[in-house]
Amino acid sequence: MLSIDLRGKKAFIAGIGDDQGYGWAIAKALAEAGAEIIIGTWTPILKIFTQSWSMGKFDESRQLSNGKMMEYLKVYAIDAAFDKPEDVPQEVRENKRYQDASGYTVSEVAAAVERDFGKIDILVHALANGPEVKKPLLETSRSGYLAALSSSSYSMVSLVQNFGPRMNADGSVISLTYIASERAVPGYGGGMSSAKAALESDTRTLAYEAGRKWGLRINTISAGPLRSRAAKAIGFIDSMIEYSKANAPLVKDMTAEEVGAASAFLCSPLSAAITGVTLYVDNGMHAMGLALDSQALNKTQEQPQLVAH
Ligand SMILES: NC(=O)c1ccc[n+]([C@@H]2O[C@H](COP(=O)([O-])OP(=O)(O)OC[C@H]3O[C@@H](n4cnc5c(N)ncnc54)[C@H](O)[C@@H]3O)[C@@H](O)[C@H]2O)c1
Repeated sequence: MLSIDLRGKKAFIAGIGDDQGYGWAIAKALAEAGAEIIIGTWTPILKIFTQSWSMGKFDESRQLSNGKMMEYLKVYAIDAAFDKPEDVPQEVRENKRYQDASGYTVSEVAAAVERDFGKIDILVHALANGPEVKKPLLETSRSGYLAALSSSSYSMVSLVQNFGPRMNADGSVISLTYIASERAVPGYGGGMSSAKAALESDTRTLAYEAGRKWGLRINTISAGPLRSRAAKAIGFIDSMIEYSKANAPLVKDMTAEEVGAASAFLCSPLSAAITGVTLYVDNGMHAMGLALDSQALNKTQEQPQLVAH
C-alpha cells in the first residue's frame, strides 16, 4: 500500500498563530503522517498562542485520526522580517509585545532549533504580511510595498538561507502562494500580489540553488481562499470563497485539510523528483479564463451547465 510515512522526520512550521490558518492545517497533516512538529509563531502573538494552547482552546482541532492529540516539540518566537539581532529597530525592540522576547530573528531561531533538535527535514513558510494590503497598487507607498516583500517573500529566502545548512539532504521546503501573483485580483493590494510573484519566482531559483547545494526540494502551493485570521483582515475573503464556488471546475468547499494533504505529499518521498513547482490546490480555479457567474454571459451566450455533486 502506498502511504505517506513521515515518522522520524522533524518539521519546522513558521507562521502558526491559531488553529484557523494553513500553517495549522499543514502541521496537522504532517503530524498525522508521523512527523514531529516544531512551531514558529510571530513574536507579538506568541503569548496569546501558547496561552490559548494550554487553556485547551485548540483541543478540538488538535485531535488526530488515531485518537491522539497533535503535540509540538517546542514553539519559538519568530519575526521573519528580521535576519539578525542588529536588524531589529529600536522601536520594535522596545514595543511592549517584543520587549520580553529575545532570539526571534531568523538566524537566531534556526541556530536555536539546531541546538535543541539537530537537523530538521521539513521547513514550512506559512506567513505573509502586507501593511497596506487594502490599498490598490496605484496607492501603495514605497515603504508599504517593500514591507510586503520583506515579510512575505524575502522571509522565505532568509528561512532557506538559514535553515538550509541545518536540514537533512532529502529535506523538503514548502511555502504558500496565491493566484494574485499571476492574475489581477482586485482587493489584494499593497504589493502583496508582487510579493507572491516574487515568492513563486524565488521558489524556482531556490530549488536550483538549494537543490545543488544541500539536496533540498523547494515547492510552493497556490492555495484557494480560506477564512484564516490574515484573510479576514484583508476583508473580502467571504466573497472570494463564494466566487470560487461559483466559478471553479470543482463545485465544492475547499478545505485547509486539502492543502495539508498536498503539503504532506510534497514533504514526503512520494514527491522525491518534484521541485521548483507551484502546485495549485484551489479546486481548479486557476485554470478558468471565464467567470461563469458573470451577468455579461447571460446576454451573450448560454450559461455553461453547473454540475453540483
Ligand atoms: N487564506 C487564504 O485565502 C490564502 C490563500 C492563498 C495563500 N495564503 C497564504 O497562506 C499563508 C498563511 O496564511 P493564512 O491565510 O493561513 O493566515 P494566518 O493568519 O493563519 O497565517 C499568517 C501568519 O503569518 C504570521 N506572520 C505575519 N508576519 C510575520 C512575520 N514577520 N514573521 C513571522 N510570522 C508572521 C501571522 O502571525 C500569522 O500567524 C500566507 O502565506 C498566505 O498568503 C492564504
